[in-house]
Amino acid sequence: MKPPAPPAVRQRAKPVPTAWRGDLKSILISRNEIRDRLKEMAAAIEADHQKRDLVVVSVLTGTVLFLADLIRHISLPMRLDFIGVSSYRNATKPGQLVFTKELGIDVQGRDVLLIDDILDTGQTLHRVIGKLRQLKPRRIRTCVLLSKSARRVKKIKAHYVGFEVPDEFVVGYGLDFAERYRNLPFIGVLKPEIYQQAAS
Ligand code: IMP
Ligand code: MG
Repeated sequence: MKPPAPPAVRQRAKPVPTAWRGDLKSILISRNEIRDRLKEMAAAIEADHQKRDLVVVSVLTGTVLFLADLIRHISLPMRLDFIGVSSYRNATKPGQLVFTKELGIDVQGRDVLLIDDILDTGQTLHRVIGKLRQLKPRRIRTCVLLSKSARRVKKIKAHYVGFEVPDEFVVGYGLDFAERYRNLPFIGVLKPEIYQQAAS
């Protein structure tokens, strides 16, 4: 069965907390919206993986908040591992992809749930899936918090998508710009002057 389309974010005006007003244009997804959607995602993952001993492979570093909040709603036996990939080098444009951490758990013959923060051009997930396939898992399912379909280059779709977002650079809830803003409990849109400043 085809999974239902992820909700597109509603661009209602949500006030940006004072501490972040200089950096963010707007809040795109509030912490409550994230919390509610994660429960739905966890339920879908649980339903699809009954009686499976899962290996959750999470892409560093942007997934840490998402992962931690998502898996506490999944009541299935699982092991957790991380794979390190670095692509965005101090800019909003992708650089070369480098693996910075390899898997420690053997995934051969296993059901893998691959988690990333955002599916943008698709280059990262494409590379990571290619690498995982060489390790001969039984099946790989992919799960992302956000999808920015407008920028997709690689023909790739995630099985579980939290929210479809517009083509803007977003930060928070794990997502960074130059390694900052990961600690925001919501997803916000970065002011263009912040990354224009950094580029100049
Ligand atoms: P892709 O390879 O173009 O699909 O990009 C995936 C990676 O780029 C993600 O794992 C993020 O680390 C980063 N990325 C893409 N878009 C954004 C964004 O809007 N904000 C923050 N990071 C992003
Ligand atoms: Mg990143």
